[in-house]
Amino acid sequence: MSTQTAHLSPEAKAALPQHVAIIMDGNGRWARQRHLPRIEGHRAGAESARVIIRAAGELGIKYLTLYAFSVENWNRPKEEVDALMKYLVHYLKTETSELNKNNVRLEVIGQIYRLPENVQDHLRKSMATLSRNNGLTLVMALSYGGRTEIVDAVRSIAKEVKAGRIDPADITEQVFAQHLYTYAIPDPDLLIRTSGEMRVSNFLLWQISYTELVVTQTLWPDFRKPQLHSALEEYHRRHRRFGAL
Ligand code: IPE
Ligand code: IPE
Ligand code: MG
Repeated sequence: MSTQTAHLSPEAKAALPQHVAIIMDGNGRWARQRHLPRIEGHRAGAESARVIIRAAGELGIKYLTLYAFSVENWNRPKEEVDALMKYLVHYLKTETSELNKNNVRLEVIGQIYRLPENVQDHLRKSMATLSRNNGLTLVMALSYGGRTEIVDAVRSIAKEVKAGRIDPADITEQVFAQHLYTYAIPDPDLLIRTSGEMRVSNFLLWQISYTELVVTQTLWPDFRKPQLHSALEEYHRRHRRFGAL
């Protein structure tokens, strides 16, 4: 990506993606560069999330999905997992009223039942507080895995078939999508990955089939408004063809 602009060009502003998804990566490397413990990177990354959520709402983006914790991230050391959960709860406790003022709605996707009880409680409370808002929908992907999501959808459809409520001949892409965690959310238009890694890491596998990908070298704790703007400028320069001419 080239320029980083404090302000978004009118052209990019007129062609905003409806749904932006972000793989927030590079917190550990950011900390290592500063000779700090990894969790300091997560603390700084949480601040980036706060800034980007606010900026997305102000721009008028309708959906922002943040990959905050993958099913594979359960394999990290317990202290690191605990720290990530702590920052999540801290964010919900301190920012829910601000999100409410900004008309933000909250949804979560993933195996939420695997999260600690107190995290689930705070998520439920925040979602309830924000449920009547109709500005930005913030989607937090927590304990999320794309393959798990697809398997869960298959299981749910199989149950419907077994109960005689769905005929296998009627299973279409639309029916399938209705059984994903994201049934109420349009597919992302733009997927941003920070820290330069050229992979999807099990994120929204079904939903990103025609999503524009922008990978930036910036580490997530350094990703703020100017970097969001340059990703949106890059998106604006793309020509989406959806397989047609
Ligand atoms: C992203 O940063 C945060 C999570 C995956 C929870 P990382 O912790 O993966 O940071 P790196 O990739 O080690 O730099
Ligand atoms: C992807 O980052 C998951 C999140 C950002 C939550 P990871 O750091 O876990 O992914 P890999 O290990 O680089 O694939
Ligand atoms: Mg990483």
